[in-house]
Amino acid sequence: MSKRIPHSTTPPRERAFLVGAEIRGAKQLLTLEDSLAELALLADTAGVDVVGELTQRLDHPHGVTYIGPGKVEELKALAEETLTDVVIFDDELSPRHQRELEKALNLRVIDRTALILDIFAQHARTSDGMLQVELAQYEYNLPRLTRAWTHLERQAGGGGGRAGSTGGVGLRGPGETQLEVDKRAIRKRITHIKSELEKVEAHRMRYRAQRKRSRIPTVAFVGYTNAGKSTLLNRIAKSEIYAADQLFATLDPTTRKVQLSGNEQALFTDTVGFIQKLPTALIAAFHATLEEIAEADLLLHVVDISHPNALNQYQAVQETLKEIDADHIPMVTALNKSDLLRDPEGAREVLKEFPKAAAISAKDGTGVKELLNLLREELYESYSPIHVRLPYQQGALISLFHELGQVERVEHERGGMVMHGRIPGRLLAQFTPWHAKHIESKKETEIEENFMEEDHV
Ligand code: GTP
Repeated sequence: MSKRIPHSTTPPRERAFLVGAEIRGAKQLLTLEDSLAELALLADTAGVDVVGELTQRLDHPHGVTYIGPGKVEELKALAEETLTDVVIFDDELSPRHQRELEKALNLRVIDRTALILDIFAQHARTSDGMLQVELAQYEYNLPRLTRAWTHLERQAGGGGGRAGSTGGVGLRGPGETQLEVDKRAIRKRITHIKSELEKVEAHRMRYRAQRKRSRIPTVAFVGYTNAGKSTLLNRIAKSEIYAADQLFATLDPTTRKVQLSGNEQALFTDTVGFIQKLPTALIAAFHATLEEIAEADLLLHVVDISHPNALNQYQAVQETLKEIDADHIPMVTALNKSDLLRDPEGAREVLKEFPKAAAISAKDGTGVKELLNLLREELYESYSPIHVRLPYQQGALISLFHELGQVERVEHERGGMVMHGRIPGRLLAQFTPWHAKHIESKKETEIEENFMEEDHV
């Protein structure tokens, strides 16, 4: 299904045993069973067969082996019985837990993060995406190193490897074959990737600035993995983005220009799917991609309303948005896959829960017209409240606010002014860097310096 280059012989799929632990009192969006079911889907997407699963409820993780020693014994017997190749834990394991478990089980042990990273590695298409995944993999693996990776030698000089992808069977991380650990080489590679990413980011920023100048508003699609974002973008933009019944099929942001009506347009960007327990380190590695979201004028949150955990998935996405500081951006919700609902009336009830939402089917097109209308209204007809602190040098923005917005109050300060009021949704992103929320989080002195610097531009 994927566009990866096929191997001449297909290796047999690895056999995975899943382990989930519920720590009493720990915040969980999904039940242990649902979270394991999701882990099984992730494993399948990574190309491994699930041969069994084991769960344990604990007061706190065991210091050495995460699960208790009795459970480790039980797991060892089950793994032998089922000819398991790899054990996958649903939670992030510390390097020590992982090492001790591998020793006790005499098997490879990985966790949810490593599994997600492997899927990302398989699905990254652009060099930018590949670099981001490679960086995340190295940073994840560095403290866990017990053997060196031949991968490094192959990549020396920055030749285009496949982001540490392991060729379909997955889970091996960037080739662990040599005996000696060379952390220094990895750190060097990390520095190299970071500087490459900085270049990409500079290019992205120029591109984004260009987009802002073009004044075409941007809508970023966000949603839980597999919610139907790519399918919806394909329908709206009549394009052919890779959409598959797989988790994280889309990794790199894709942007399409869409005509909303006569002369009203918007740029629609599909972004990486979210998932519960998304590790912060992973979010950080994708910061360039996620900036696409943080700088959008409007978010379109696509929810798979036919999923039994739809509301928890919605919540997981909202929490990630908060983490990347994008929760202030106006949002429209698309309750997707409504064609799969046995009770369409039920959808109407759920709709009432969301302030701006449409029930749609990206697959058969139902409700998509209403959704586009909602987006158009939000971008072109609704005004959003805004508080910005603008240096006088930002004269263009100050007059834009006066011309197209509704100014409620202006306070003059040294070097600039604070403006309160409302502006059309499509203009929001241009004001993002001057958002009072951002600025207030900085120290007062810093603000003054900013104003002073701007004074001398
Ligand atoms: P990620 O790349 O994981 O973030 O997924 P995505 O949100 O981009 O989802 P994608 O568009 O790849 O769709 C996931 C699966 O859901 C595919 O098999 C689609 O055909 C299916 N799907 C999407 N929309 C609908 C819908 O409205 N109805 C039905 N029945 N299936 C849908």
